[in-house]
Amino acid sequence: MAKIQITKTELVWPGKYREDGVLAETPRANLPLQTMEVFGPEAAWRNKLIWGDNLLVMGSLLEEFAGKIDLIYIDPPFATGADFAFPAAIGQQEMAYRDTWNVSTGSYLAMMAERLQLIRDLLSPTGSLFLHCDWHVSHLLRAIGDEVFGAGNFLNEIVWYYYNKFQGNVKRFASNHDVVLWYRKSASYQFNQQIEKRAEGKVKQLVRMWDKEKAAIVNAKGLDGKVMYRETDQRTVDDVWRISMLQPADRTENCGFPTQKPEALLQRILETASSPGDLVADFFCGSGTMLSVAEKLNRRWIGCDLGRWGIHTTRKRLLGIKPRGPFALLSLGKYERQYWQGVNFTVPCEYVAFILKLYGAEPANGLAHVDGKKSNALVRVGAVDLPITNAEVDAAVDQCAKSKQRELHILGWDWDTQRCDVLTETAGNKGVRLLLLQIPREVMEPQATQHAYVRFFPLAYMEAEIGQPGDLTARVTLKNFVILNTAGDVRSDWSDYIDYWAVDWDSRSDTFVEGWAAYRTRKERKLPLVSGSYAYEEGGRRRILVCVIDIFGNETRQAFDVEFS
Ligand SMILES: C[S@@+](CC[C@H](N)C(=O)[O-])C[C@H]1O[C@@H](n2cnc3c(N)ncnc32)[C@H](O)[C@@H]1O
Repeated sequence: MAKIQITKTELVWPGKYREDGVLAETPRANLPLQTMEVFGPEAAWRNKLIWGDNLLVMGSLLEEFAGKIDLIYIDPPFATGADFAFPAAIGQQEMAYRDTWNVSTGSYLAMMAERLQLIRDLLSPTGSLFLHCDWHVSHLLRAIGDEVFGAGNFLNEIVWYYYNKFQGNVKRFASNHDVVLWYRKSASYQFNQQIEKRAEGKVKQLVRMWDKEKAAIVNAKGLDGKVMYRETDQRTVDDVWRISMLQPADRTENCGFPTQKPEALLQRILETASSPGDLVADFFCGSGTMLSVAEKLNRRWIGCDLGRWGIHTTRKRLLGIKPRGPFALLSLGKYERQYWQGVNFTVPCEYVAFILKLYGAEPANGLAHVDGKKSNALVRVGAVDLPITNAEVDAAVDQCAKSKQRELHILGWDWDTQRCDVLTETAGNKGVRLLLLQIPREVMEPQATQHAYVRFFPLAYMEAEIGQPGDLTARVTLKNFVILNTAGDVRSDWSDYIDYWAVDWDSRSDTFVEGWAAYRTRKERKLPLVSGSYAYEEGGRRRILVCVIDIFGNETRQAFDVEFS
């Protein structure tokens, strides 16, 4: 094995260098982005909210956006080992995200180093990175940032002092600040000085000025030779930012997302180093604070997060901004899953065994349409890149019935089947109790699987009535929403399970075009179950697509074909 030659001071971690001593390369996947939903009218530019692992997302954005993003802010997990849960309505907790990275500091650093390299390549020549962290990792991230961007491109260690955060009884000083490391891509960058109001009100100050001859700042003097004073209630912002923490009782800005940052912090960052019309990005966007501020300040934006709850919270938050430009929700869809399968498993049966293990099942050999067994139930695992079809369900149900088994669980990523209640009824007629479960995206996250917080949710279905209140006019009324087999989780009303619903009035492809939407917020818990009306310009057959997102962050879509004449 070659020895690594240490020629400079640097931070190393297991895996940074290959065994032959060469620096390991950052994977640069280039996968096609799929548009899942669009909001707002057609436009030359649509802001982008992308659901997926930012390593693959950034790699895939390089072709179009390398050297084009003017400002990137990231607020990655801090490796605190904490779980961040969100309340899924009454009495339930779901994981928003888990702040551990493969548990070891080394793998956390490897994860960050790979991402910082992609960020550098995406930044425009005059671009800046603002890297938000805290005492857990700021010392380590500074070392990696210096290596990736060059120590000479480090501009500031900004201290965000949240003076109003309540800290319990700790036997040391309370940690009441985060750190934002500011790097420029090159010598030329944007800096707009910021002015703020003084907390103490007006003060009397000496007037200071630059003396060219002395090459120093001196007291300015009046015509009478006396030093001059001025009164001011403003100050130039320095590298300590006193900005209040979001308060739990706040129902306007606070979306209830753990680790959500205040908009005032992001406003200052964006106003310091970007201008209206610039393209800005946040690749760990969480609840979308940066995107929300970018939208309000007329920046174009790209956001990314791998958590379904972060993406859903961001979507609702953006919809609440008025006026708002058009945006799209994208993902790498099956391509991300294929990539994950390729990297982690040598043969497909390893993938199947992995999913079975996560589901608490054992592999079962010798059955063509069934892969495993969990207690008395047979289990079928869907492929990463093909939707489950009616034929696949039928074949598995028939096999189950033939082998005299009474229960079958089918786990799938995508579904191209009849409504799930129809499938379970048909299976029931053959004597098989059928459970259809969604494989969650979390199975691809190493930290999720290590800690086994992956939950397979049962499929849901809705009942809706399409009314025609006038000529060529449609209106949707939700009549029922059922998550099949929600054992132990009973709400008083079916609508309590719904967090958001939307209508695409004229569905023509896999992309959902939002024509009307309603959702719950922390402030407004009521949800209308009748949509607004929509008037078509001409008659004909239309496919109305209704999308429901439930309180667990899962999506259910259903199409209704209606004739308008
Ligand atoms: C500290 S939170 C960001 C909070 C955000 N600044 C806000 O104001 O809401 C970190 C986020 O990074 C996301 N995340 C972690 N690893 C990621 C990855 N590899 N790709 C994309 N997002 C990731 C988590 O899901 C989480 O939402």
